[in-house]
Amino acid sequence: MIEVLSIASEIVPLVKTGGLADVVGALPAALAPFGVRVTTLVPGYPAVIAALADPEVLWSHADYFGGPARLLKGRAAALDLLVLDAGHLYGRPGNPYIGPDGRDWPDNARRFAALSFMAYELGAGLVPTYRPEILHAHDWQTGLVPAYARFNAPTGVKTVLTVHNIAFQGVFGWDVFNALRLDYRAAGEGALEYWGNLSFLKAGLQTADAVTTVSPTYAHEIRTAEYGMGLEGLLRARADSLFGILNGIDTRVWDPGHDPALAVPYGVHALGDRAQNRAALEERFGLEPGEGPLFSVVSRLTWQKGLDLLVPHIDMIVENGGRLVVLGSGDAALEQAFRAAAARHPGKVGVMIGYDEPLSHLVQGGADVMLVPSRFEPCGLTQLYALRYGSIPLVARVGGLADTVIDANAAALDAGAATGIVFSPVTEEALGEALRRGFALYQQPKVWRKMQRRGLKSDVSWDKSARHYADLYATLTGREHHADPND
Ligand code: ADP
Ligand code: GLC
Repeated sequence: MIEVLSIASEIVPLVKTGGLADVVGALPAALAPFGVRVTTLVPGYPAVIAALADPEVLWSHADYFGGPARLLKGRAAALDLLVLDAGHLYGRPGNPYIGPDGRDWPDNARRFAALSFMAYELGAGLVPTYRPEILHAHDWQTGLVPAYARFNAPTGVKTVLTVHNIAFQGVFGWDVFNALRLDYRAAGEGALEYWGNLSFLKAGLQTADAVTTVSPTYAHEIRTAEYGMGLEGLLRARADSLFGILNGIDTRVWDPGHDPALAVPYGVHALGDRAQNRAALEERFGLEPGEGPLFSVVSRLTWQKGLDLLVPHIDMIVENGGRLVVLGSGDAALEQAFRAAAARHPGKVGVMIGYDEPLSHLVQGGADVMLVPSRFEPCGLTQLYALRYGSIPLVARVGGLADTVIDANAAALDAGAATGIVFSPVTEEALGEALRRGFALYQQPKVWRKMQRRGLKSDVSWDKSARHYADLYATLTGREHHADPND
């Protein structure tokens, strides 16, 4: 058994702003069959504290990063959790990163340093009853975990940092340095320094024993200037310990055969039943029924997602008999553009600005096409949910989208391999062409149905990737073998 402490700033089903939470929430169950026990350390946001059943207090201190703190151990939603209960840092409602004024909380450096320092202390033996062998950190919020393990007192613990999105780098002014409790050598050796500031993510990339990211293509892309966002040089230097491990999805939570958010459950042999979910979806979005394809978006509305490239095509979609539903929130200008499209095309375009987990399931189960025209996409989960729910993904050829969807070109259709529509470059023109291909394919119901079935049968589970993580942990801890459920 390998004991892993996973450290993250969000986790499904307790706190979620994006795919990071899905992955962190799914990994423990996915890894258990491989002889890996995962405990997850998360901040004690109000929603997390409220969900903990009968927590045990493992440790407490009157002044931890500026206020009283306790480390709680408990279970919630079948997850083994360690929760850093520190009201002065996390006792705030709403979004985990952003205050009610729409700006980052001003003390984010301290908030996430405190979380990371706790992980390091656990690795160093703070609590006699729990001693992880691996600290597995996720994204910039926990980027300091490997830095503490490297520069503060040595622990013997091994560290892994997973990059879910290199666009978020945790950059702060040097004035925060003293509050971080990071050994001064970290400042001296250039591990933190980033264009005159300091970066949590860079610190982690530089010091982790292994760096992973969430798809093989993204692992290559981030070594290039186009996608590396300034960190490509460092990642090239670390190429030997940089691995792309594709995300899976939790196939119990995302199962069209047993999904309480659907009007009617269905499976690969009853795809006709999707029509009832489509009708339910149309009703939710106030759409008229129609013959043409129902396109969909479930996304953060940000530059990364490329949805500004979709806006100019909405009139064309409607003119061709298509319809569109959009569930998302983000940039005000984009929200406004989609609202305006809905106002122009009542009954044809439906827009919900906001975050609605059950509705996102109904969109997957009812729409015909899931649109993901991202400019960059480390992995992307919505195209995986679409495959599993028989919605055809139409995606940009970048990152994990390129690794998970097989384009319906002539060769792939002949070979019976196509699962979606993939386009490049990521431009308005190429997206328009892809949408037209979507319309054309939809006119061929047999071909369409085959693609749906192939998607539904494709393996989007965690099985393969969990094995890769387990292998990585085994290598880092010097174990030759790990338990393999198939042996
Ligand atoms: P990212 O993490 O970059 O936002 P992913 O595709 O990896 O992209 O994950 C996004 C996750 O967030 C998916 O689970 C998706 O269903 C969900 N999601 C995004 N926007 C919304 C929304 N408005 N309502 C409900 N779920 C959403
Ligand atoms: C990030 C990425 C997304 C990825 C998710 C989970 O939010 O933007 O592509 O799927 O993390 O790894």
